[in-house]
Amino acid sequence: MNTVRTAVLVSGGGTNLQALIDAKQAGQLPHVEFVSVIASRPDAYALERAKKAGIPTHVAQRKGRSQEDFEAEILAYLEQDQVQMIILAGFMSILSEAFVKRYPRRILNVHPALLPAFGGKGYYGLHVHEAALARGVMVTGATVHYVNEIADGGKIILQKAVNVEPGDTPEILQRRVMEQAEWIILPQAAEIAAQELLK
Ligand code: GAR
Repeated sequence: MNTVRTAVLVSGGGTNLQALIDAKQAGQLPHVEFVSVIASRPDAYALERAKKAGIPTHVAQRKGRSQEDFEAEILAYLEQDQVQMIILAGFMSILSEAFVKRYPRRILNVHPALLPAFGGKGYYGLHVHEAALARGVMVTGATVHYVNEIADGGKIILQKAVNVEPGDTPEILQRRVMEQAEWIILPQAAEIAAQELLK
């Protein structure tokens, strides 16, 4: 079949996973096939979204174990499900160089800022928006990029800018960046990356 077997890695609410599911159901991801969702926490609401959409789920818990054990469990699921492409959608752990090198140009990440601004270690989730507001930027946005061994450092696939408005809190800005950027460019980038792999 002319599709790329794709796993989505999540840690939390899973609104970006939902955007992928909705895009798939709307026919916008003809070359992407979601074969599993892997969560790093058993209580991630993203798991419910996956189940509702009929996508098989796995939990590889990050807490209380070594990076090596954690990644070995993820790798076992990826191999079992014959995964060809991985999308990090609100996945809050940094993957090791050894892991990333197994999937060159096959791992995508969505980051809630215009990289290289507000990226790298420590910049995740709400912290990214706190940093953007603290710096006083007037424009922020989201980036989807390939994952390499440098945190938030891989080749950029798509970016979209979003205005910061007077009175924004980190939560308000996070929501606007999701609605106006992340949920739009993540599915688009997934289809672009899948088509690239099928060339
Ligand atoms: C999203 O804003 C995503 O860009 C960000 O976490 C949020 C997850 O929300 N990811 C990172 O900060 C990764 N460095 P979601 O679980 O509702 O998709």
